[in-house]
Amino acid sequence: MNKATSLKKLKELIELDKTLPLRKDATNLVFGEGNPNAKILFLGEAPGRMEDLTGKPFSGAAGKLLDKLLQSINLPRDETYISNIVKFRPPQNRTPTPQEVKTFLPYINQQIDIICPKLIITLGAVPLSIFYPDIKISQIQGRLQEINYCGKTIHLLPLYHPAAALRNGHMKEQLETSFKKIPSILSQIK
Ligand code: URA
Repeated sequence: MNKATSLKKLKELIELDKTLPLRKDATNLVFGEGNPNAKILFLGEAPGRMEDLTGKPFSGAAGKLLDKLLQSINLPRDETYISNIVKFRPPQNRTPTPQEVKTFLPYINQQIDIICPKLIITLGAVPLSIFYPDIKISQIQGRLQEINYCGKTIHLLPLYHPAAALRNGHMKEQLETSFKKIPSILSQIK
């Protein structure tokens, strides 16, 4: 089965899973989108209001900043894959609880295994917490890590969340600086 078909099947499984939290208040499942064969997988936290309406990850204000950052390094969005840990919008855009994150974990692990990217870029503290539950994002943002997935060692780059960067100029600068490292990281790990 190719990656696109496996992702489609996974999406169907999530659609059928009536035990998932947050489903009842959500408009759409935000499964993730992009190139199933992408070398880079971006992982956000959870859909916001715009994502809930469109069904597409990072389609609101934070997504606009992400698009700008991608343009700044000449990386077309459709060459990447973009997803979130939690796939339904938490009410009022609150941070998903650890229990909610845990419930979605088997699905995100399957999504990572199918895509099997060379580099995962976590955006914010929530996606980082699934790999490093005890580390603060400020301690390792912008520093390349190694993790084991899909039977191999892949790389992980923890970055600040674009929504946090929109509220905090210092974080925005750090996000922009760390983003600029992506092209050289990609050529290193090819
Ligand atoms: N914030 C996220 O973490 N994900 C989105 O898709 C949009 C905003």
